[in-house]
Amino acid sequence: MPFNPANVIARKRDGFALSRAEIADFVNGYTVGTVPDYQMSALAMAVYLQGMTADETTTLTEQMLASGIQLQWTDGASCVDKHSTGGVGDKVSLVLAPLLACCGLRVPMISGRGLGPTGGTLDKLESISGFRTDLNLDEIRDITDGVGCVITGASAEIAPADRKLYALRDVTATIASIPLITASIMSKKLAEGLDALVLDVKVGSGAFMKSLDQARKLAQSLVETGYRMGVPTTALITNMSQPLGRMAGNAVEVDETVAALSGEGPSDVIALTTSLGAELLVATKVASTPEQGTALLQQHIDSGDGLKKLRAMVSAQGGDIDAPRPIAPATSIEATRSGFVSAINAEAIGDEIIRLGGGRRVMSDSIDHSVGIETLVRVGDRIERGQPLAHVFARDKDGKLADEVLKSCIQIQDEPVSKPPLVIDRYPDSL
Ligand code: URA
Repeated sequence: MPFNPANVIARKRDGFALSRAEIADFVNGYTVGTVPDYQMSALAMAVYLQGMTADETTTLTEQMLASGIQLQWTDGASCVDKHSTGGVGDKVSLVLAPLLACCGLRVPMISGRGLGPTGGTLDKLESISGFRTDLNLDEIRDITDGVGCVITGASAEIAPADRKLYALRDVTATIASIPLITASIMSKKLAEGLDALVLDVKVGSGAFMKSLDQARKLAQSLVETGYRMGVPTTALITNMSQPLGRMAGNAVEVDETVAALSGEGPSDVIALTTSLGAELLVATKVASTPEQGTALLQQHIDSGDGLKKLRAMVSAQGGDIDAPRPIAPATSIEATRSGFVSAINAEAIGDEIIRLGGGRRVMSDSIDHSVGIETLVRVGDRIERGQPLAHVFARDKDGKLADEVLKSCIQIQDEPVSKPPLVIDRYPDSL
């Protein structure tokens, strides 16, 4: 039967599983422009409402991957990457990529920008003077081979079907669909030519997935698709009910990355970085157990090699990690009562950073890299009245205005509160 986009949309609308040929024709047609945006929007909505089987999701991923080029690594080191679904204060990519490179792995990390309360790795890196996030494919290959790691934006040749479809989903209320998210993430990541992938699926107030049930479904779908496409893939479901580390923003998170690679923590950033990294070290047989993997990564922090590798990567990408980064003046937020921290609203902290100019509401917004919020307490901490809870880095007036918002983000109660776990679950096997 000749390909008829309207028939394919109708079959998905009516709950049928699409064939390989139907998905391939649709994605190819959309990439070259013979399937218009309005038909792709209709199909995205049908998928959003009806879902997709694991077979369909894998085919969609394969076809979106095939819409562009896939990097090939012919010799030597295994190629790995980590993807996070995004969270407030999540600077793990910046810490992890150099550490994995120190372990002899290749890490051609293709990252994104922040939209909404969660920050973007590229925006953070652009607070480094001179740093380029628009590398072409030859530069990605050369720096990955020379330094071991690179962190850059997706070039136009990487999964162009996803680039077009993501922009369409953004304006047609079809972002929150597990098969569409899976195909979008996996087509871009697998274009890196990976031997192993680890996913950090965040759940909680500061995450894309608000419920554990949704996070589990996404983790399952991502891991299954990775395996079906021949790439060993694991996922950790991790807690985003409070910001990760102390710093959230752009320049302040680069400062915290340098601190982390200098052995100065914070402990949750180090614990999450080493847990995710250990997954990749075991998958590529660099380590035989997660404990051995964690110890190896820690050794590269303790020796200073991780920091040297970050410096080399930044320099290869045109930046200077030692050039001072502009940080706006700090205002201190103090506790109005004593007690135990019961909740920290990470989403509201992310929203406050946007209000202060440090994040985007729409993709065309520009970013003030000097803005940030430092959270000085964690859920479960005992605090005293008058104790500093947070620092707001913003222009003076804005910093003072943030006081009330920040106080309402950090809740305090009389009864003790237990500290929440950082890693909640692991896929494919439960912890
Ligand atoms: N990140 C992506 O790259 N794609 C999605 O669909 C959602 C989050």
